[in-house]
Amino acid sequence: MKTLTEEMRNRIIEVQARYPDKEAPLLMILHMANDEFGFLDDDIYEQISKLTGVAKSKIYSTATFYSMYNQRPVGKYHLQLCKNVSCMLAGADDILGHICNKLNITPGATTRDNKFTLTLVECLGSCGSAPAMMINKEYYENLDNAKIDKILSELN
Ligand code: FES
Repeated sequence: MKTLTEEMRNRIIEVQARYPDKEAPLLMILHMANDEFGFLDDDIYEQISKLTGVAKSKIYSTATFYSMYNQRPVGKYHLQLCKNVSCMLAGADDILGHICNKLNITPGATTRDNKFTLTLVECLGSCGSAPAMMINKEYYENLDNAKIDKILSELN
């Protein structure tokens, strides 16, 4: 079971105190927990709920709505490839096949060395520079297979 540290608890209380509505900083709090643990689960929702007074159902529904919060452990590099219309029309399907072949995984899976996780996500808001992907918190745009090769070779 993951436990919020005293420091985390204090940071959450401090953040929440800045807002008149206890639910207003929920996205920020979930980011903090996601960064700390790498993913979120029921234990974390429970602890955040008790600490903030926000209903656990609200926390769960918020955390599972956005792809930026991991619902399971991910590798060191989390590749989130957009599967929405603009990216697919610009070749994302070909890039997906290339990544799967190169890393020998399917979407939703993590490489055996725990280095890469591949996830398909909805629009990343980067349709004008499709195909787009995020790796952890960085955007990669106008992708093609050669760019994918270069990007992956630079990740240690
Ligand atoms: S459709 Fe891929 S970023 Fe919008």
